[in-house]
Amino acid sequence: MTDHEHDDLAPCNAQRRTLLKTIGATAAATAGASFLHGCSDKNSAKRTAQGVQNLSFAEIPHGLDFKHHLPDGYSADLLLRWGDSLDAFAGAFSPDTLDAGEQSRRFGYNNDFLAFMPLDPDAAPGEGNRHHLSNNSNRGLLCVNHEYTQPHLMFSGYTEASSNRGTSHAHIAVEQQACGHSIVEIEHTVEGWQAVLGSPYNRRISLTTEMAIVGDAAGDQRLQTSEDPTGKKVLGTVGNCAGGKTPWGTVLIAEEGFGGAFQGDPDNVADEVEARNHHAFGIEPENRNWGDYDRRFDITVEPNEPNRFGWMVEFDPYDPKSTPRKLTGLGRFEHEGFTVVSKPNAPVVAYGGDDDEHQFVYRFVSKKNYLPRNNAHNRDLLTEGTLYAGQFREGGGGTWLPLIFGRGPLTPQNGFRNQADVLIDCRRAAKLVGATPMDRPEDVETNPVNDCTYVMLTKNKKRKAGQENAANPRARNTTGHVLEIVPPGRNGQRDHTSDTFRWNTFLLGGNPNAEEPAERGAYGQQPGNISPHGWFANPDNVAFDATGNMWIATDGCEDFGFHDGLWAMATEGELRAAPKHFFGCPEGAEICGPEFTPDGKTLFVAVQHPADVDNSTFDNPRHRWPDNDPGLPPRPSVLAIRRDDGGTIGS
Ligand code: FEO
Ligand code: CA
Ligand code: CA
Repeated sequence: MTDHEHDDLAPCNAQRRTLLKTIGATAAATAGASFLHGCSDKNSAKRTAQGVQNLSFAEIPHGLDFKHHLPDGYSADLLLRWGDSLDAFAGAFSPDTLDAGEQSRRFGYNNDFLAFMPLDPDAAPGEGNRHHLSNNSNRGLLCVNHEYTQPHLMFSGYTEASSNRGTSHAHIAVEQQACGHSIVEIEHTVEGWQAVLGSPYNRRISLTTEMAIVGDAAGDQRLQTSEDPTGKKVLGTVGNCAGGKTPWGTVLIAEEGFGGAFQGDPDNVADEVEARNHHAFGIEPENRNWGDYDRRFDITVEPNEPNRFGWMVEFDPYDPKSTPRKLTGLGRFEHEGFTVVSKPNAPVVAYGGDDDEHQFVYRFVSKKNYLPRNNAHNRDLLTEGTLYAGQFREGGGGTWLPLIFGRGPLTPQNGFRNQADVLIDCRRAAKLVGATPMDRPEDVETNPVNDCTYVMLTKNKKRKAGQENAANPRARNTTGHVLEIVPPGRNGQRDHTSDTFRWNTFLLGGNPNAEEPAERGAYGQQPGNISPHGWFANPDNVAFDATGNMWIATDGCEDFGFHDGLWAMATEGELRAAPKHFFGCPEGAEICGPEFTPDGKTLFVAVQHPADVDNSTFDNPRHRWPDNDPGLPPRPSVLAIRRDDGGTIGS
């Protein structure tokens, strides 16, 4: 363990003091002591000036209607919708006649994470390195997660309640092809962004795609099933929420809410460890009825099948025949995503979160070094290394605690047989070593400009009074907050492999004028720095633009009377953490995936579950965005946002 705790420069500023006053919690106040240093090196002042200029768009208002909203001077191309064909000669989409075979060649449901992977027009499939290094911003592969399915909005004849245990087997077969992932070649033409139908890269990954299981838990007896006695092969992926990209041109996709895919009573599973494990991921007899159609989703038939889900999956989008791999070294939990930070000739570091109440933030450090010109070597970096869970202490200090079998409490006395147990029961291991229980960690991403890492904590209504901690200072946190992790070092050159770090509260979600202190937001250095439309709640996904501005996507603002959307803000300087509202969703939707092209001139966003409000169904939907066609249901869709004058987004 290195000890940089006393010699780093914390990238904080006067904004910190405003927050402290607002939070008013003793724990948070003590955390402030470590933020007396400014972050400013000479370059950061310059960047700050750029950042302020860069967010000169005309802010949109809070609102709630059946449309999406953008600032004046911006437009969105409707790029991909649920059911759009990826083939050149397919018929029009018709949900009434959709079968599983057809869905397996069409864009899936509930688009979430987006990765834009550049394409070099002169390189062939399989030449990933050439494509990836091309930085082409006009042609690429859009890699899209499809998190989950909603039969009552996809098919006629269901209510939300009736679809839960009563979905027909034919519809379940479609659902299993509608979740997973899509890889779609897209290009920017004079007509705007379009999918390239019939591209050799176009691919669907679903619940029937064969995958390998790699890393320290691969082959363990707890991963073996009657279909796979090796414990090293699994069909498919589910609950694909957010993800990440690697510098060697692969894509990471997370398995989050996988428990809902399994039915059966954990108390009927003979092994006590497994029963407790299944309970922890919400496997219940009342869950959807997939197990009646496909017996591996019934835990009373295949008690180990759930252990083959809840991992991060890595795949090569440039090789359409490649086999995705589940990376057990990154732990098993409700993965939101993992984001990779790489420095030449040093281990790669990946950060991720477990999106559940009182769960943890994680970091993985590879055993081997990242070699920029050697992708054959880099491809295995995430298969070997050490996983850590985050401890955030009062006073702003933090430590990454290693999860290694035999170390500390991770021993047979506490029910761990080997490293596979530590990884499969990662939550229990992290709790035992003393990690800090958080308010539902969503995206954890590193700002490429200041090299600090930001944690989106969406909310935690289950945190009771008395359970607050310095990093999660509000009981019954309904609005969420954002933390800033500061590894030792200077902006742009921080040591993410250090086992110690500093942290501070970047912002608190919620209305700055809320009467209830637990819901009162805190942003920026001055109360006047944000407009009445600048506040938001429930940060979920995050992206950074080339100047280091943060773009936060929300999931939950409708609880506060307005649409979910995107808010952009500087991370340094006078307007640090002072958001401006950029995009609004149609009612019922959340927004996922914000992703810029390398030139910053296109911003892709995923509008997930439009019209998902109470009593809204396929037969009687709240609205029919984006087609507004009485013959079509509301459809989750990806938009490509551009400035009308072709300029850089946000500036
Ligand atoms: Fe699928 Fe954590 O949102
Ligand atoms: Ca999410
Ligand atoms: Ca979400």
